[in-house]
Amino acid sequence: MSNLETDTRQRVALITGGNQGIGFGVARLLHAEGWRVHVTARQEAQRADLERALDVGRVHVGDLTSAEDAARIVGEVAAAEGRLDAVVHSVGPYLTAPLSETTPAMFESMFQGNLMTAVHVVEAAREHLRASSGAYVFFGCSGLERWRARTVTTAYISAKAALLVFMRGLALQEAPYGVRANMISPGFVPHGGAAPDTLSPELQAKIPQGRPARMEEVAGTARWLICEESAHMIGQNLEVSGGWML
Ligand SMILES: NC(=O)c1ccc[n+]([C@@H]2O[C@H](COP(=O)([O-])OP(=O)(O)OC[C@H]3O[C@@H](n4cnc5c(N)ncnc54)[C@H](OP(=O)(O)O)[C@@H]3O)[C@@H](O)[C@H]2O)c1
Repeated sequence: MSNLETDTRQRVALITGGNQGIGFGVARLLHAEGWRVHVTARQEAQRADLERALDVGRVHVGDLTSAEDAARIVGEVAAAEGRLDAVVHSVGPYLTAPLSETTPAMFESMFQGNLMTAVHVVEAAREHLRASSGAYVFFGCSGLERWRARTVTTAYISAKAALLVFMRGLALQEAPYGVRANMISPGFVPHGGAAPDTLSPELQAKIPQGRPARMEEVAGTARWLICEESAHMIGQNLEVSGGWML
């Protein structure tokens, strides 16, 4: 049965980086709508709070820069549920630093966190999503496709650009299997653990719409991208940014 035909209550989603921020927002929305939602966290100490907000047994602890952790976590979800319909990959560390002070190790860390975590999760989830004709959602950042020069976020944007190209290659490769991949590129999505830039009133005042995104606007877009309403969309990068970087 394809995920288009499956009752929403039986669908299984894995939200990576679901312990806070956008990932947690997506997890809460899908959970409220009856999905069987699994999330990843990096610290065991976060498990109890997450299980109170979501469901017991659906929190998986690991570092997704590790291929082994990614394989173990996806394996845990598949063993518990017998299927996996959607992966929302919300992991994506941010860095702002002048390019002249951005060390090779900082570049490496951006590519590990933004690109390689996605590569590891896809490697682990590929066969499960093919079996369910499922969907992937990744997160870029606003302005990504216009290749703007930004001296203080070069390492971060470089890694997100690589993720965009990866997502598009994946979308092409998986299309014959009925699997879809798309990306959301937010502008500002404030939350408790957001970077200082995201919370800066001075920067937010420059957003053409005059306000940052509400969590439900971004989470709702992710939900839409894994549901049947978007079934004919692959390889797309949707900006949810109120015009930031337009
Ligand atoms: N919020 C925004 O305004 C905004 C704007 C543009 C793009 N985005 C993108 O949207 C996505 C979500 O943003 P966000 O603000 O929710 O990010 P966030 O607050 O930094 O949350 C990211 C999550 O990923 C986890 N994580 C980071 N590295 C990991 C790793 N190696 N293995 C496993 N988990 C890891 C973090 O865990 P810990 O809690 O342990 O660190 C955290 O739960 C990111 O890709 C981000 O780049 C966000």
